[in-house]
Amino acid sequence: MTTEATVRSPALDVERLRADFPILQRRVAGRQLVYLDSAATTQKPAPVLRAVDAYYATSNANVHRGVHALASEATDLYERARQRVARFIDAPAEGIVFLRNTTEALNLVASSYARELLTSGDRVVLSVMEHHSNLVPWQLAAERAGLQLAYLDIDDSGRLDLAGLDELLAPPTKLLSLVHMSNVLGTVNDIKSIAARAHAAGVLVAVDAAQSVPHSTVSLRDLDVDFLAFSGHKMCGPMGAGVLWARPELLERMPPFLGGGSMISRVTLERTTWNTVPHKFEAGTPDVAGAVGLHAACDYIDSIGRSAIREHERGLTRHLLDVLDEVGDVTVYGPRDADAQGGVVSFNVGDVHPHDVGTILDRSAIAVRAGHHCAQPLMRRLGVAATVRASVYLYNTHSEIDSLGAALGDVKRIFKVG
Ligand code: ALA
Repeated sequence: MTTEATVRSPALDVERLRADFPILQRRVAGRQLVYLDSAATTQKPAPVLRAVDAYYATSNANVHRGVHALASEATDLYERARQRVARFIDAPAEGIVFLRNTTEALNLVASSYARELLTSGDRVVLSVMEHHSNLVPWQLAAERAGLQLAYLDIDDSGRLDLAGLDELLAPPTKLLSLVHMSNVLGTVNDIKSIAARAHAAGVLVAVDAAQSVPHSTVSLRDLDVDFLAFSGHKMCGPMGAGVLWARPELLERMPPFLGGGSMISRVTLERTTWNTVPHKFEAGTPDVAGAVGLHAACDYIDSIGRSAIREHERGLTRHLLDVLDEVGDVTVYGPRDADAQGGVVSFNVGDVHPHDVGTILDRSAIAVRAGHHCAQPLMRRLGVAATVRASVYLYNTHSEIDSLGAALGDVKRIFKVG
């Protein structure tokens, strides 16, 4: 993910793009929807909706099982989606495992790799800015396998504090699992250089890329990490289409995550042998329509250009930070720097409860997220119970940010802040 302010791309034709998203025409409580919750899930453009619909209307069949025409068509679509997703992240396709979401992908790594292949006393390093999906699976694995967990801290600006990294990478550390871009602070971590330091210490690297892959160019070959997880629904794709990329040689060594159909080679009543990777990790009927929709989402995003999307979001984030300053009495958590963070900004207004802020914004048809954002340890580290979070994507406009600013003015008036 690039953080250089110098990158310049052609401006997006946002009005034209917005027309691709039917839901953006919706009115909520009689007002035009302002959707600022794309870190939770993005809206879906017509080409993705059409691809899913066309799959069910013309090619639906179960994959890897039948000899009839529809079965081979569906299998072909599913495997082409795997190739397309691999190309999207610049990675070899045999490492792509289709799962439901980032959470399931990280659970797979924590279960099949950490719990089964690491041994008692080995250490896994995480950070305090992780989403629960990159914390809880490791806690479960640690409990089962007797692993130790250690955590990188953040500094006052919401960036990772890397001062103690080399110490934490020393034995008995075997694996480092970090978020690429924080879903709360927006902070973009320099995974490439952290991964190089980890590998020099003989430590494997897993990355939660749920918030980075949809918004910028993420190249697996460039980052050179061992596991990378992300979700299709945060990148214009359908819900239920998630991805784990893992080094194929690691997948070979890892035991299956779930057992059942498709993931086997030979089954007897006594024992079972496994299918080749990545199929060994895809038990049961997969979400073929999800994979087809994700293929269409990759095409859609690349037809716009990821550096253009990043540049557009950089402008929106700058404007959002300025508008929050103008509103006044707003505490922003995170770098406050559109070059060091993605399009996610968390804040509080005076001491108004974030749920109250979210509810008042909703009256103006403005959708934000309010709460702990599945990051309770980070909330504790920031000294708050919850925050309001506005997050942007390729379809947002500066005038929507202005609407947010005006509605936050209403919040201040109603709660007599300032
Ligand atoms: N992980 C998603 C979020 O941060 C749901 O909102």
